[in-house]
Amino acid sequence: MSQEVKRVMVPWVEKYRPKNIDEVVYQEEAVNVLKQCLKGDDFPNLLFYGPPGTGKTSTILALAREMFQDQFSSRVLELNASDERGIAVIREKVKRFAQQTVSRSENGNKYPPFKIIVLDEADSMTQSAQACLRRIMEKETKSTRFCIICNYISRIIDPIVSRCSKFRFKPLQQDLVMEKLATICNSENISLENDVVLTELIKVSGGDLRKAITFLQTAYRLKGDEILTINDVREVTGYIPENWIDMFVEACQKQSYENVEDVLNSMVAEGFSGAQLLNQLHDWVLGENCLLTDEQISELIEALALADYRLLEGADEFLQTFNVASVFIQLLGKK
Ligand SMILES: Nc1ncnc2c1ncn2[C@@H]1O[C@H](COP(=O)(O)OP(=O)(O)OP(=O)(O)O)[C@@H](O)[C@H]1O
Ligand SMILES: [Mg+2]
Repeated sequence: MSQEVKRVMVPWVEKYRPKNIDEVVYQEEAVNVLKQCLKGDDFPNLLFYGPPGTGKTSTILALAREMFQDQFSSRVLELNASDERGIAVIREKVKRFAQQTVSRSENGNKYPPFKIIVLDEADSMTQSAQACLRRIMEKETKSTRFCIICNYISRIIDPIVSRCSKFRFKPLQQDLVMEKLATICNSENISLENDVVLTELIKVSGGDLRKAITFLQTAYRLKGDEILTINDVREVTGYIPENWIDMFVEACQKQSYENVEDVLNSMVAEGFSGAQLLNQLHDWVLGENCLLTDEQISELIEALALADYRLLEGADEFLQTFNVASVFIQLLGKK
């Protein structure tokens, strides 16, 4: 019973996180250089960047665990976007931790003579907090190394970038993602209807292994020990069934704003998300059912990109999707 409870409670993303740096796949350049760094004392500040779910957080955690072993918790300070990270926090927490002195040995064991501060998701830090961080990095070089992690390196201020060794994490290849998911299915005794289930999972996760693992666990929670089907995957990922996309496109083709409004209202009532609709429309536009000219496609994609950006900024889903529909209607009218 307790075994059973545990199996469901632990997030698989944590459970299947690489335990050591050798388990990190596909990021050989970064891993090899970091292994070299492990051998010497001249450990640099690090900057990891690249798409979500490619192993950045896992790599630094594994590296730090290898370096500090039982002293991990006292030598590593981890801050991520869920922590407040304005100037005040940088000043207080980071500075206080950076200033604690560390010795080379503890209880007779030898450790590197520094601590590590991991700033995960650093691209969401304000510019002024980054400027503050830069000064701390300068002052505390003797006792502290920083590992800055982000998706977009362009959002990190230059003086920080230039103080770090940079490592780009590449998007994981599909077969590696597939392999990892298959291993998890195996260990958790999940039976799949067929291989297409995993392919679909990878498709909807867009190469983000973390997302794929989380979806898999959600689907498993939904179905328990029953066989997992492609529809289960679609259900947990919020995938909008094709016939809804067809209805939306038909309404636009009919040049009917009323029809579009009806379809969108029904979609909202069903609980489908506007962002997901934009994603699937994007696939539709690039798929073989789309009869638009190249010029029309580029205009529609621009409208989709703009709506996507506005949604991220908090705009209204209905209005944004309706706006995309009206661009679509106009383009079809011009034919
Ligand atoms: N290169 C990899 N090798 C092995 N496992 C990986 C790799 N990349 C991702 N994973 C798996 O995906 C999960 C998420 O990885 P991780 O948290 O390291 O991603 P991340 O790059 O930090 O993503 P984000 O930018 O969203 O924070 C981990 O549990 C791990 O199992
Ligand atoms: Mg991360």
